[in-house]
Amino acid sequence: MRVTSEGLERVPDSIALAYLPASDPLMENLSEADAAAVAVGDKLFKANCVQCHTINEVVVGPALKDIHERRPISWLISWIQNSSKMVAAGDAYAVKIYNQYQKQEMPSFALTDAEVTQLVKYIEIESMKSSVVYCSQ
Ligand code: HEC
Repeated sequence: MRVTSEGLERVPDSIALAYLPASDPLMENLSEADAAAVAVGDKLFKANCVQCHTINEVVVGPALKDIHERRPISWLISWIQNSSKMVAAGDAYAVKIYNQYQKQEMPSFALTDAEVTQLVKYIEIESMKSSVVYCSQ
């Protein structure tokens, strides 16, 4: 398939394959600092978050795609370190999402501000990946 002004158009595999990126262009264009942050974020996400979250689908908790655009980083740091405290303090968004998910408490995580920032960077890059259409067949 390829994207034209009219939408998606099917092209023969032999041609489509020529458009396949040799390696991941998103990762290649990251600065070294961002690539390092994404690598740490990836590990942290798999160790702490995957049992309840994915990028694109609701599991136990909400899909996290583009969370960096929906919430400020300061909010994300407070939330991930201690969501119950934010709900108890009456933060409007925290209360709303807590109620929306049947008042299921998300665990608190003893992560530093820097670690949460790395996690969010990972989620940001994964969100971009899931928006890219690759010509896979
Ligand atoms: C045991 C399940 C569970 C785990 C583990 C978990 N979460 Fe959650 N998370 C939830 C639930 C449930 C909600 C919805 C709010 C609520 O019920 O408190 C949520 C909400 C969120 C939100 C708000 C999403 C939005 O759309 O506004 C973010 C951000 C978030 N989680 C990030 C994380 C990160 C990052 C981790 C790993 C460090 C993590 N969560 C681990 C269950 C979990």
